[in-house]
Amino acid sequence: MKRILVTGARGQIGSELITKLRGVYGNDNIIATDIRTAEGELKEGPFEILDVTDEKRIFEIAKKHQVDTIMHLAALLSATAEKMPKIAWDINMGGLVNTLEVARELKLQFFTPSSIGAFGPSTPKVQTPQDTLQRPTTMYGVNKVAGELLCDYYYERFGVDTRGVRFPGLISYVAPPGGGTTDYAVEIYYEAIKQKAYTSYIAEGTYMDMMYMPDALEAIVQLMEADSTKLVHRNAFNISAISAEPMDFAKAIQNHIPEFEIAFNVDPVRQRIADSWPDSIDSSAAEAEWGFKAKYDINSMTKEMLEKIAEKIK
Ligand code: SER
Repeated sequence: MKRILVTGARGQIGSELITKLRGVYGNDNIIATDIRTAEGELKEGPFEILDVTDEKRIFEIAKKHQVDTIMHLAALLSATAEKMPKIAWDINMGGLVNTLEVARELKLQFFTPSSIGAFGPSTPKVQTPQDTLQRPTTMYGVNKVAGELLCDYYYERFGVDTRGVRFPGLISYVAPPGGGTTDYAVEIYYEAIKQKAYTSYIAEGTYMDMMYMPDALEAIVQLMEADSTKLVHRNAFNISAISAEPMDFAKAIQNHIPEFEIAFNVDPVRQRIADSWPDSIDSSAAEAEWGFKAKYDINSMTKEMLEKIAEKIK
C-alpha cells in the first residue's frame, strides 16, 4: 500500500491527481501539499502548506505522515520560466533536489514529470525517439533535462526508485494550466463554449504533442506500479496521445459547434518555444516497458471537454 506526498497539489496536474490517487489508495494515504492553502476537494483529506524550496519542511511532512512515495509536481511552466529564468531555476531545480534528498534519506519511491520541453531545435522533430539529442533552448527545458539526469543520478548513485515521464501538453476542464506554451489547447475549449470563437497565440501549422488528463493520471499510477525489473529507462519516458496544431482543434470543435471560428494573433515568446519542441514524440519505450496506452484521441477528448465545460460554466 502506498502513502504518497504530492507537491504542487493545487496545480493543473495536482488537483486531479489527488482525487485519482485517493480513489486508488484511500483518502488518508494521500498527503496533498501546496504553497497555497487548500481549496475545494483538497480539504477532504490530509493537507499541508509546503514551499518546496524549504527542504527541512519537506522532510518534516514526509516523516510526520510516514509516506513511502513522493510525487513532486511543484514547478513553473515554460512561458513563466522564460519571463523569470532565475526564479524558475531556484524553484524548479531547488524543489527537485530538495525532494530527491528527502527521498534518499527516507528511502522513498519518487516521481516527477519531465516534458516535451526537454527537447530542442536540434532534436529530430517527428516521432522523436526515446533516446536522442536534448539541447533545449528554454530555461524550462534546461531544468527538465537537468532534472531527468538528476533523477537518474539518484537512482544509480543512491538507489532511489526514481521514475518519470515526458508529458506533452495536458488538457483538462478541472484546473486551468498556468504559464505553459500548450495552454492554448485548453483555452480554445473554454472560448468555444463562451464565444464560439478563439484567437490562438500559436500559429497555424505548429504541431505539438497533447494528452487528455485522465490518460496522464493513469500513466502516473501505471508507471509507479510497474515492475522495476522491466524498466530499462526511468527518467523520463516519452508519452503522447495526440499530435495536433491549432486547426486540428478547431476542426474537432466544429464537429460539435459548426459556427466556431479560429483566428491567429501569434505571441512571439510562446511561438519560439513551440517551434523548438517536437511535432510528435515516439512513446514505444513506455508501451514496451510498462504498458502505456492512451485511451483518448482528439475527437473523444473534444466531445468530453465541450460537454464538461458547458456544464461547468452554465
Ligand atoms: N505544458 C507544458 C508547457 O507548455 C509543457 O510541459 O510548459
